[in-house]
Amino acid sequence: MEFNSPAGSNLFDKPKVIGKSTPRIDGPLKASGTAPYAYERHDVAANPAYGYIVGSAIAKGRLTELDVGDAERAPGVLGVVTAANSQKLTKGDFNVVPLLGGPEITHYHQAIALVVAESFEQARAAAGLVRARYERGSGRFDLAAQAGSADPIGYDPQAKSPIDSLGDFDAAFASAPVKIDQHYHVPAESHAMMEPFATIAAWEGDRLTVWTSNQMIDWARKDLAKTLNMPAENVRVDSPYIGGGFGGKLFLRADVLLAALGARAAKRPVKVAMQRPLMINNSTHRPATIQHVRLAAQRDGKLVAIGHESLSGNQPGGSPEVATAQSRFLYGAPNRRTLMRLAAMDLPEGNAMRAPGEAPGHLALEVAMDELAEALGMDPVELRIINDTQVVPGTDKKFSDRNLVRCLREGAERFGWSKRNPRPAQVREGRWLIGMGVAAGFRDAPTQHSAARVRLREDGGISVETDMTDIGTGSYTIIAQTAAEVMGVPLERVSVDLGDSASPVSAGSGGQWGAASSTAGVYAACVNLRRAIGQKLGIDGDQARFEDGRVILGDRSFALRDAGPVSAEGEMTFGKFKDDYQVSTFAGHFSEVAVDAYTGEVSLRRMLAVCDAGRILNPLSARSQVIGAMVMSAGAALMEELAVDKRFGFFVNHDLAQYEVPVHADIPEQEVVFLDTLDPIVSPMKAKGVGELGICGPGAAIANAIYNATGIRVRDYPLTLDKYL
Ligand code: MOS
Repeated sequence: MEFNSPAGSNLFDKPKVIGKSTPRIDGPLKASGTAPYAYERHDVAANPAYGYIVGSAIAKGRLTELDVGDAERAPGVLGVVTAANSQKLTKGDFNVVPLLGGPEITHYHQAIALVVAESFEQARAAAGLVRARYERGSGRFDLAAQAGSADPIGYDPQAKSPIDSLGDFDAAFASAPVKIDQHYHVPAESHAMMEPFATIAAWEGDRLTVWTSNQMIDWARKDLAKTLNMPAENVRVDSPYIGGGFGGKLFLRADVLLAALGARAAKRPVKVAMQRPLMINNSTHRPATIQHVRLAAQRDGKLVAIGHESLSGNQPGGSPEVATAQSRFLYGAPNRRTLMRLAAMDLPEGNAMRAPGEAPGHLALEVAMDELAEALGMDPVELRIINDTQVVPGTDKKFSDRNLVRCLREGAERFGWSKRNPRPAQVREGRWLIGMGVAAGFRDAPTQHSAARVRLREDGGISVETDMTDIGTGSYTIIAQTAAEVMGVPLERVSVDLGDSASPVSAGSGGQWGAASSTAGVYAACVNLRRAIGQKLGIDGDQARFEDGRVILGDRSFALRDAGPVSAEGEMTFGKFKDDYQVSTFAGHFSEVAVDAYTGEVSLRRMLAVCDAGRILNPLSARSQVIGAMVMSAGAALMEELAVDKRFGFFVNHDLAQYEVPVHADIPEQEVVFLDTLDPIVSPMKAKGVGELGICGPGAAIANAIYNATGIRVRDYPLTLDKYL
């Protein structure tokens, strides 16, 4: 089925289950600690052996010797896997550097061996006996120092120029009466998910099954097969529960490959959980950016020129952090230039982390807008409102639905924005300086092909199977809601099986496309099931109503269960509307802070997000998504930073003790408001994703609130207290 709006279904005109706050159906399993995570799949692999990963102690160079003899002879050891003794491996499509390194070493903590033993403790002890000698090469670890060698890189690899430009930016900027020209530094950040990379691998002949933790099942299956030079049909990936991903688990990582190689070597199922100290340098991170923003306006506040250039680094062959993304869409202006530069570096591979690009991009653009408002003597909410655009700047392409102005107005009203003193450093309560800040939020709303299988069971219930994942986002629940809605059964009669590559291929969880796309695929399968049921009953399933466990057409009425068992598959592809419309989500973010006048300590007092993201399928879990994202954005603004050792080339603070993320005491009462919008273009449910919108803007609102409180503008994240003294 192709969704090519504005056709589609009137099934969701008056939904009974969709759009209602619904507790997560996996909630009891999670809250009681019984949800089976990958490392705890005692049900699938009897008597597993344990793998322990050895990471490279240098960032760049060669392994000149890797002596595993003592390790192999250590008690309980079943085998030691290295690049030298493993089968030939092919690099997958989704990782830039080999997951098992040697003799070339391309980053610190790149895996160089897996020790497999009867127990975890034996594997760990033996890993200490692996002796590696290296020839250390020189590496590129300092982003600012690489600026000169960075290449321009565009959004569209086919485009003639990597520069996205419109009008005459230089002339317009030079002649404008009011302008801002600033640089912003955002450090590398870590996904820092609770559940580490973890896999149990088992071979049956030439067939491999991995129980793992991964956001994109089909990508993982194909990439694992490619890496091992085997047919993808012989690989099964199962990932029903995921303890956080944030983009770090979009791709195949070392735990999966090493567990597979270890299981083959030991002739036993092998389980590998990446040791916490390896998590950060072995895997991916959000690359640091140095962003140059130039804004120019007329005296009435109308933007005449927007310039945003972003420098980031990555392993050769890697991608840039697309920090200029929102700057192409958020505000109108006739003259514009956005440009990324990408430097080749030898730090671990950078890759997607929640709202890749836009999350750090807002930390620059939306602070520059605050600076411009001050230079204009204008209210920062009003400045954003008068520069709203309903078309993609420079084109006549419309947004499918865009209510940024409503987000800002409604947010200002609810937050009490009119009480803000526009002059900084004026409001004081004892030792605390008080300030308020605002930022707009933008995040794209992509959709992806998604399929599902649904079955009417003999008992009249509905089963749904799809390889869609739930990374803590609530996929189980919105998928159950969708099937309940379309099949006319209560939510409790729907069971949902996710994360298994034996099921039809879904959109997976990434880029905030999961919710809208995967439910559309389930909708398509349910439409086919209604047809199949109609056929069994001798009526037209497209014309019948499915309500309260009954199928009704004209004066005929059947019990749904009498038609079972019957199953159907369906898939949704998203059609040509993507060429005709820009489909995005929007938000207004507000924040109030108190800053200690003597110590510079920032205390967050209030946060509000007003979100425009189409129909909200489950307001309860959507709210959880947004407040979680706001916490991450507060972390980015105030404390998160992967500190680079520029001599030896690694992230120094490489565990959860040293990589600071917010704790409960850092986070105040948060409020989330969803505008009651329906996007007529995007999906049958008129829904868009929201999981990444919430991390786009709150950090900038916090930075702007700190400025309003103190009169000190810091453009070097995180905004730690030392920078305010
Ligand atoms: Mo998201 S960074 O695509 O998981």
